[in-house]
Amino acid sequence: MTSSFNVQSAAGYEQLMGRWSRQLAPLFIDFAGITDGERALDVGCGTGSLTFALPHAANLSEIVAIDFSPVFVEAATRANSDPRIRIQQADACALPFADASFDRALALLVLHFVPEAGKAVAEMRRVTRPGGVVAAVVWDHLGGMPGMRMVLDTAAMLDENAEQIRSRYCFQPMMRPGEMMQSFAAHGLEKIEQTSLMIRMDYQSFEDFWQPIAAGEGPLGKYVGGLDQALRAKVDATVKAAYEAGQPDGPRSFAAVAWACRGTVPEA
Ligand SMILES: C[S@@+](CC[C@H](N)C(=O)[O-])C[C@H]1O[C@@H](n2cnc3c(N)ncnc32)[C@H](O)[C@@H]1O
Repeated sequence: MTSSFNVQSAAGYEQLMGRWSRQLAPLFIDFAGITDGERALDVGCGTGSLTFALPHAANLSEIVAIDFSPVFVEAATRANSDPRIRIQQADACALPFADASFDRALALLVLHFVPEAGKAVAEMRRVTRPGGVVAAVVWDHLGGMPGMRMVLDTAAMLDENAEQIRSRYCFQPMMRPGEMMQSFAAHGLEKIEQTSLMIRMDYQSFEDFWQPIAAGEGPLGKYVGGLDQALRAKVDATVKAAYEAGQPDGPRSFAAVAWACRGTVPEA
């Protein structure tokens, strides 16, 4: 399997994650560094949070964006009006580009959905020129996502299956401390640096928080969507109580922390 990502609809993804990955994109671009005239590759572009942020950061000569999901490729292509941006369907583990064809290869919130994430790192390195930069960012589901942990920790008290889902969720590829750095080093990158990037996910109400998950989007949506009616009602009610935390329903703000890593392709 080349992707573990669960796609329902591009609009649902926007509600679940796109609105937040758009906030993370400029922080990631700052960390990855980008300069005028470069050719950049966005690996796993989704609905285009990074793709469409890149031209605001520098006057790039070309941006190529790929995604495994035809649903996202179609949505991002429809949203694009910049002639420098090219979007196509492709697998991060088998990039359809020549060696050394980009100045920078970037992946925003993608590698944790690639079961053989090391292969994707190797491919990003291969298509980046000597002296160019490979950079990636993944959420820290174990220690950095209190909003989503709230859902899984609550569900795990009610359902044994949720314990396994929680374990998989917390230890998706590249999420362990230092794991991405080790993978970057193993694939021959140098001058490797890692940092944490943080945004806040601000919700208007429990409905705003829960609706995209209840609609079946993302890994938690897939789990919730598969519950029988009785368990589902319990999970809905207990997660709502956890969200409200003893106060009337309304806005809540959750920190979200990601691991980011970058490395340079050695000069020949
Ligand atoms: C959480 S979304 C991130 C999308 C976008 N970069 C963003 O930050 O909003 C994960 C994306 O990785 C893509 N993906 C997962 N495995 C992939 C693979 N092997 N090759 C290409 N894209 C992949 C999914 O289709 C999905 O669009």
